[in-house]
Amino acid sequence: MMGLDGSPHPVSIHAFGDQEEPARRLANALGAHFRMVQLRRFPDGESLVRISPETGAGAAVVYCSLDQPNSRVVDLLLASSALRDSGARSIVLVAPYLCYMRQDTAFQPGEAVSQKVIARLLSDAFDRVVTVDPHLHRTHDLSNVFSIPVTQLSAAPLLGRAITAAKAGRDVVLVGPDWESRRWVEAAASSSALEVLVGQKVRRGDRDVAIEIQGLDRVRGRTAVLVDDIVSSGSTVCTAASRLLDAGADRVDLFATHMLSSEADTSALYAAGVSQIVSTDSVRHITNGIHLAQLLAAALLSPQDETIFG
Ligand code: R5P
Repeated sequence: MMGLDGSPHPVSIHAFGDQEEPARRLANALGAHFRMVQLRRFPDGESLVRISPETGAGAAVVYCSLDQPNSRVVDLLLASSALRDSGARSIVLVAPYLCYMRQDTAFQPGEAVSQKVIARLLSDAFDRVVTVDPHLHRTHDLSNVFSIPVTQLSAAPLLGRAITAAKAGRDVVLVGPDWESRRWVEAAASSSALEVLVGQKVRRGDRDVAIEIQGLDRVRGRTAVLVDDIVSSGSTVCTAASRLLDAGADRVDLFATHMLSSEADTSALYAAGVSQIVSTDSVRHITNGIHLAQLLAAALLSPQDETIFG
């Protein structure tokens, strides 16, 4: 197969077994070879990583979303090293979910600045990173922390389109549960002209949040659709859903980019009254309903990536 731009270098997509499905979708969208990365765990917990022997001197894309990061990051670095050793001309990391982006400063003396550590590790191992809706607080541009090119995509327009399709004919109001979600909920609303409400959140602990939503009375008798980038413990969504239902919303749904919640925490969301949860396939989850392959492929095929695929 020729390279993506017609160059003689083949392009290959490499993925670990538990991310095979979305990685294959990306390979299909790109018309690229798909290669599994073999992973063996030794009894002591160490990993043996082996890339496909068919990998040549072309561009390599490693697809690895970084939920469950503490084990995945080491496997990813080993895979990158093996690709370099096999002569891959350039290596792109496609990490739809990028881990450890929240800890961008030391809040208490002695804390590690995790964002900086991960950015340095990945910058040393790859030539480019492509990610979706990185969860950033004080750093808004990842090129300030990575020393390699970073493409930051957003799934918000896809969420907006999915909401419009799913809720056709309903009286819908979009709700961002906190100020950080404002940019996603507004981007999701931009194609649909739906009304938007944004809450204010005070976090008292990992699972303890308080949320106030200005204009809450506007949800009475309507379908409230919560939009957020990340759902982790689910506390934010649970609290917001209770506020919306107490205010008379006839139904509360959730559309999110990265669904990181455990099975128990996801059940708690439904128990709190959320009727429908739809997430992108950035993280493998029972609620996945939106594929990112076309968004990722378009970014990889864009002219700025000529140096990677040329
Ligand atoms: C906040 O900054 C984010 O937008 C999410 O609302 C938050 O990370 C969700 O966390 P949890 O599900 O644990 O409340």
